[in-house]
Amino acid sequence: SIDVSTLSKQTGYTALDYGFVNTASTKSEITYIDGEAGILRHRGYPIEQLAANSSFLEVAWLLIYGELPTADELGEFDEKIRRHTLLHEDLKRFFSALPSGAHPMAVLSSATSALSTYYSDQSDPDNPDHVDMNIIRLLAKLPVIAAYAHKTANGQAFLYPDNSLGYVENFLRLNFGVMSEPYEINPVMAKALERLLILHEDHEQNASTSTVRLVASTGANQFASVSAGIQALSGPLHGGANEAVLRMLGQIRDSGESVARFVERVKNKEDGVKLMGFGHRVYKNYDPRAKIVKASADEVLEALGVNDPLLDMAKELEEIALSDEYFQSRNLYPNVDFYTGVIYKAMGFPTSVFTVLFAIGRLPGWLAQWREQNLDRQGKIGRPQQLYVGPAERDYPAK
Ligand code: ACO
Repeated sequence: SIDVSTLSKQTGYTALDYGFVNTASTKSEITYIDGEAGILRHRGYPIEQLAANSSFLEVAWLLIYGELPTADELGEFDEKIRRHTLLHEDLKRFFSALPSGAHPMAVLSSATSALSTYYSDQSDPDNPDHVDMNIIRLLAKLPVIAAYAHKTANGQAFLYPDNSLGYVENFLRLNFGVMSEPYEINPVMAKALERLLILHEDHEQNASTSTVRLVASTGANQFASVSAGIQALSGPLHGGANEAVLRMLGQIRDSGESVARFVERVKNKEDGVKLMGFGHRVYKNYDPRAKIVKASADEVLEALGVNDPLLDMAKELEEIALSDEYFQSRNLYPNVDFYTGVIYKAMGFPTSVFTVLFAIGRLPGWLAQWREQNLDRQGKIGRPQQLYVGPAERDYPAK
């Protein structure tokens, strides 16, 4: 690799790289991906081992602080997060000011931004205590905000967090529990959701993480950066794809069109239709996260007692696509979003909440990357160049 910033100073050349296909914006010690081989590791640990053995908060600590936590460190981290789940009562009014049909991702991002107003004097990026405290605050409060975004969409009353529960169990109760009735945690669902969240925790310089780092490079605080990251994640080419996959499957089912015919339309690029949940900028092989999700989809649906024909349709789509020259020649494989939606649906989450779940999963990665960016004092403000192709100088017409 070459340091283009030095080279461009020496030569006067500017590299034009649409979509940053070949431009590294940073060095990082957090996540390693080999897209050709389908490898993903966090701080050296393979994603398969973390998904099988670790907890969401343990991986969060690993990403943020660089090593697996000791039992004491993890216990203290968990305890602090439990103690910071409550939102200021005034912030709850914020939700009722938004339209009931608002997309939960817009609600999540706006409320995260609003959350920063309560901590504006405790969010100095140069104060390590503030940085660590806001890691706790965001990890504790974002799942609560996410559940309230879901409840707002359903028109249901909010529940207070129950801090005797673990991270994922608390989140499930806030989403599905109702006032005046005890909520029974389904351990199968809690374990499956925890694994999905772990699979989403970090993925190096994807669009939302790059957004978080770009905002961080200006000296903006963690709330501002994460709120921007949520917005970047919402697009259908990024995190919004999990929602788009379910809508696509539903549309194929409702239209009565065969899966093979749909794939033909994708190949002919009819109306720009894409196979959502397929393809990846970095993976030119099977996404290792998708492998794990696919392997657990049948098991989770069966354990939840759900039989969803959309899962069979997704498998048929994959089978047809993977044996087709169009997808083979372009190295298009299912990405992490292809099978997650079917599982979220079986758990009872509405389609509009799927990307919110992605955001809750990705939060530790954003916080880790924000911290790494902030600690890297060599880091400059992110400020890409452009190649100007507009008109040359001209005079304003005389009147
Ligand atoms: N369906 C059909 N064709 C596709 C797809 C797809 N899902 N993805 C890429 N292609 C085709 C493109 O049309 C292009 O074909 P061409 O050479 O004939 O023009 C070729 O494959 C290369 O695709 P690019 O768009 O150049 O690849 P890029 O790396 O820029 O895009 C992306 C990656 C955005 C993920 C793309 O594959 C896509 O749109 N996929 C569907 C949306 C999706 O699932 N996004 C989630 C990504 S993972 C994540 O964020 C968690």
